[in-house]
Amino acid sequence: KEPRGDPCSAANIDQATVTHMAIKWDVHFQLQMLIGSVSLDVKILKETDKVILDARDLSIRTVTVGGTEVEFRIIPNSYTSFGSKLWICLPEGKNRAGAELVINIAYSTSNEATALQWLTKEQTTDGKAPYLFSQCQAIHARSIVPCMDTPSVKATYTAEVSVPAGLFTVLMSAIGEGSKSDAKRTTFFFEQPVAIPSYLIAIVVGALEKRDISPRCAVWAESSVVEKAHWEFAETENILSCAESIVGPYIWGRYDMVCLPSSFPFGGMENPCLTFLTPTLIAGDRSLVSVIAHEIAHSWSGNLVTNANWEHFWLNEGFTVFIERKIGGRLEGETYRQFMSFNGWTNNLIPAVHQQFHPTHPYTKLVQEHEGVDPGMTFSVVPYEKGSALLFTLEQRLGGPEIFEPYVRDYFKHFSHKSINTDQWIEHLYNYFADQKEILDSIDFPSWLLNSGMPPAKPKYDEEMVVDCNTLINEWIEATQITVQGITREAYTAMKPLQQIICLSQLWQHDPPIEHYKLDAMNALYSLNDSENCEILLNWIRLCIKSRWEPIIPRAIRFLNSQGRLKYCRPVYRELYQWPICSEEVRENFLRTRKSMHPITAELIGMELDIK
Ligand code: BES
Ligand code: ZN
Repeated sequence: KEPRGDPCSAANIDQATVTHMAIKWDVHFQLQMLIGSVSLDVKILKETDKVILDARDLSIRTVTVGGTEVEFRIIPNSYTSFGSKLWICLPEGKNRAGAELVINIAYSTSNEATALQWLTKEQTTDGKAPYLFSQCQAIHARSIVPCMDTPSVKATYTAEVSVPAGLFTVLMSAIGEGSKSDAKRTTFFFEQPVAIPSYLIAIVVGALEKRDISPRCAVWAESSVVEKAHWEFAETENILSCAESIVGPYIWGRYDMVCLPSSFPFGGMENPCLTFLTPTLIAGDRSLVSVIAHEIAHSWSGNLVTNANWEHFWLNEGFTVFIERKIGGRLEGETYRQFMSFNGWTNNLIPAVHQQFHPTHPYTKLVQEHEGVDPGMTFSVVPYEKGSALLFTLEQRLGGPEIFEPYVRDYFKHFSHKSINTDQWIEHLYNYFADQKEILDSIDFPSWLLNSGMPPAKPKYDEEMVVDCNTLINEWIEATQITVQGITREAYTAMKPLQQIICLSQLWQHDPPIEHYKLDAMNALYSLNDSENCEILLNWIRLCIKSRWEPIIPRAIRFLNSQGRLKYCRPVYRELYQWPICSEEVRENFLRTRKSMHPITAELIGMELDIK
């Protein structure tokens, strides 16, 4: 296929490009607005009379080019979720190929900026100060800064952010350069010296405290959370060093993390220098740190080598999951990597393809078509699991890790600081393995990449750690009213958390649904309703909903109201809504709580519940 531009961006990237952004924001909690300006260093690539940027709900005051005020126009896009086009007219003499200009835009954001969630101090854990955090991936950066909002354009940035003096710390996806205060306000300074795509611009403002983990790693959180977070994420430096030993040096300087309020819609977000994390990772037993391995892996796949547009999202996420599991394999053993990969196929990919979608659904394709499609709506585990399964297959066919890992390092070296599509990936793969062309030709790439449904071939997994799971699953399935009394806790409690999760997920996928007396017994034996581990709770709740076990309803609603992670809220809302005896109750629960939900979560859950 011909490399195309980005169907989700209106920017004229063939004519001009942005190389640096200098951001100035005053954070206004009462107005829920960022007020300030951005200066863009723009290079003209081909003669043009205008620069076109993406913008969404921004009020633009003035635009200057090289210090002189110029005309601008705001034109709605044909597809509304893409926002508007901001046309900036270039004066004569500044429009030739090779020209370098500085465009300054004075503007403010709307209180409905989709990239931002504003929390009142009452909505925070500690209740000390209001809180603000951003989430720009995939196409929300345009709601906080006019920019070429496509991952195919990379720019360095600096920022000066002012907040009321006293309570607040400001963090960004950049290196902190200190702060200056006067009586009223404190200004924080940042620099991101590595060119990054717009979706990696990020900000957090709140009453935050820091705990160091190593010379280059620390965790930030509200005061009452920071110690727990520090304990839970103490392995971060080991994970980071392990990642370096697999894929090469870490170039971003610091790797800090911020543990956000529970309304954060994702498990983690790989903002450079500052990973954002959901507090639902704090399980008290470090069992969910694979999310940190995942976000660390993005320091290479995604942040260094970036998908050119969201149709090739699998290059970001498939590679990241593959490396995340490589790290797991190094730290816990190859058997564990095999087990995680098996789980990805069996409990993530199969249900997504067969239940969430349908094997003919276009969102089950690895390479997607996003003309007029909001990438936020297509989000699923498919690019993660189909993508990593393809790499896992390639590794096996090409001769194993000794041969494949040097290839992965070469891939990152070759495409460092670039944005690429699937064609460029495959071209490099064929060049690198020129001597093994027959092996590559034996892989059905067209089906893997372009067909919907499950991949053409299932990789081979070592199933050593699956054996215990299968034994326990069968014990529950085959139990009767009498023999169920004989099942003891030990087989379950001796398992690793991921094995426990697999058991619950397999029981959930089982037909016919598990009988109520078994659910009663399971809950009594394993204290599932009281689990501190959200992955276990999710799988337990879904299992119970499928069996129409009424005692789960209040527990499920409490789970929905205790956190806002999409991975948990979407399926639970959807499945409760499809259960007639509680569909009204969960709809009301949503309508009552949506004011305090994150804008991304509120929109997607609203769609699940046929609201709006
Ligand atoms: N970059 C993603 C999160 C994301 C993707 C946000 C697309 C917005 C649009 C992040 O790295 C991620 O994949 N998070 C996962 C965790 C992971 C362990 C699979 C999540 O949030 O569940
Ligand atoms: Zn990811």
